[in-house]
Amino acid sequence: MTSQPHRPSPHQDAPELFTWEFATNPYPAYAWLREHAPVHRTRLPSGVEAWLVTRYADAKQALADQRLSKNPAHHDEPTHAKGKTGIPGERKAELMTHLLNIDPPDHTRLRRLVSKAFTPRRVAEFAPRVQELTDDLLDRFARNGSADLIHEFAFPLPIYAICDLLGVPREDQDDFRDWAGMMIRHGGGPRGGVARSVKKMRGYLADLIHRKRESLSAEPAPGEDLISGLIRASDHGEHLTENEAAAMAFILLFAGFETTVNLIGNGTYALLTHPEQRNRLHRALATGDRSLLETGVEELLRYDGPVELATWRFATQPLTIGGQDIAPGDPVLVVLAAADRDPQRFADPDTLDLARRDNQHLGYGHGIHYCLGAPLARLEGQTALATLLTRLPDLRLAVDPGELRWRGGLIMRGLRTLPVEFTPIS
Ligand code: HEM
Repeated sequence: MTSQPHRPSPHQDAPELFTWEFATNPYPAYAWLREHAPVHRTRLPSGVEAWLVTRYADAKQALADQRLSKNPAHHDEPTHAKGKTGIPGERKAELMTHLLNIDPPDHTRLRRLVSKAFTPRRVAEFAPRVQELTDDLLDRFARNGSADLIHEFAFPLPIYAICDLLGVPREDQDDFRDWAGMMIRHGGGPRGGVARSVKKMRGYLADLIHRKRESLSAEPAPGEDLISGLIRASDHGEHLTENEAAAMAFILLFAGFETTVNLIGNGTYALLTHPEQRNRLHRALATGDRSLLETGVEELLRYDGPVELATWRFATQPLTIGGQDIAPGDPVLVVLAAADRDPQRFADPDTLDLARRDNQHLGYGHGIHYCLGAPLARLEGQTALATLLTRLPDLRLAVDPGELRWRGGLIMRGLRTLPVEFTPIS
């Protein structure tokens, strides 16, 4: 239990959050908060109290506000309930000095380094490989006529893709798949297996970075992958410690993995439950028109995006958001899912419209921590959805939507399973 003094919220009639119903459909509760308590202090399931910011304008301002630090040391009780709060930085310290937990100037230096290696061009060159991975995974389950789309498709695709991009040898990628699976399955729960998986991943990455650094000085230099690019960038004047390099590889894996699983999972689910939108996209793809696919993936991110709440922020000085005073040390969670359904910003926000144009959603965040992997996420999301719809034209849910279970984690929104049926392909 927390020893923090409870500062009661003026909104005692607020809907109950973090229940099973809320995990299934949080949008009515978010609509209430946006309207009645747009900056709302609540007790999280871990016992920590935090401010939830739900209006689009406030969310955008908070995401860019440098008085809100990403460094968990600014939490007013950083040692509180050690390891059980879900606040990053309490555990696994070596891997935790990564982009999402640091502020300028370190953030500026590390982000510049990784941006040199993780360029939109590198991602664009990767498109054929993403298509090949997508087709291979689909070939494996498509003969059966039924599948759990999360387990057999949405989950493995991003892990193999990011491993390839980083330069993790193919023969080691199934280990990553297992470690990542452990982390995603038990992310919010008891940590024994998770801690072991993180430890194994850390050991592996440290070793891989070391080996790549050695082989880069050999002639001829090996092919260019992201980890080699990172090492090269750091060897040209800017300093990157091996710990920082390992933390960088880890955050790329971690930030790029469950998010993309959920983009494919939530996106497919939204399409299957909005047949007229799905048919429209199917028809566009059949004529070779990809513009609806591009706007459509953005709309799916807005409508039911993978990152429900942006990652933790902590006030470093007194500030006001949406008229609410925030004290130094207070945690602030920006609710991207609520902001992206704000009727003050989006017309008919609860309607899925794949052709929506005025769509500056916050699904990838905003400001200096804006998603570094957005080009890769777009590539994977577009490839996965287009391939599914095109190759499995009668894809449908195998269960009633009410039977689907959503994961109850704090930051991410995604399905545990997505059972589907379709005419098998040979
Ligand atoms: C940051 C969303 C995929 C790497 C972020 C943030 C969001 C986000 C909301 C900002 C968090 C905050 O400000 O608290 C998403 C979504 C994705 C996705 C919705 C998939 C649909 C990826 C991929 C990668 C990636 C594929 C890399 C391979 C990162 C990194 C950051 C980040 C490194 C931290 C950037 C920084 O702090 O400067 N992402 N992401 N993401 N994302 Fe993504």
